[in-house]
Amino acid sequence: MPNPCRWGVSDDIDTKPMKQINPSWQAHIVLLCSMSRPEGAPKPSCGHHGAEELRGWLKAELQQRGLWGRVRVVTASCLDVCPQEGVTLSFQGKSGAGDTFVFDAQEERGALLERIIERTEG
Ligand code: FES
Repeated sequence: MPNPCRWGVSDDIDTKPMKQINPSWQAHIVLLCSMSRPEGAPKPSCGHHGAEELRGWLKAELQQRGLWGRVRVVTASCLDVCPQEGVTLSFQGKSGAGDTFVFDAQEERGALLERIIERTEG
């Protein structure tokens, strides 16, 4: 049977359907870049600016508010922003549109948490 994929996948490739699931966090997933390049690398990386510690803090704060599960914060590799300072985070909300931020993991974490809560409840 001809492959109906409009992207031109070869008929030789097995295209059996994938199993779709609906986890509790699917409308609120936060991708937090934790990429750590070696010192002296040509591009900066978020992992040197507190990404892992921030993830733990966000998880604890969201658990305390009963939102962990509806929201999931996961570390990701490079999101191709690579700021000189700060951490890159991308939030996928209910609308399907994502918002991406670069922020200071220490000084702006409270504002970030508020934004996540607003989007989760909004
Ligand atoms: S290293 Fe974080 S976005 Fe590239």
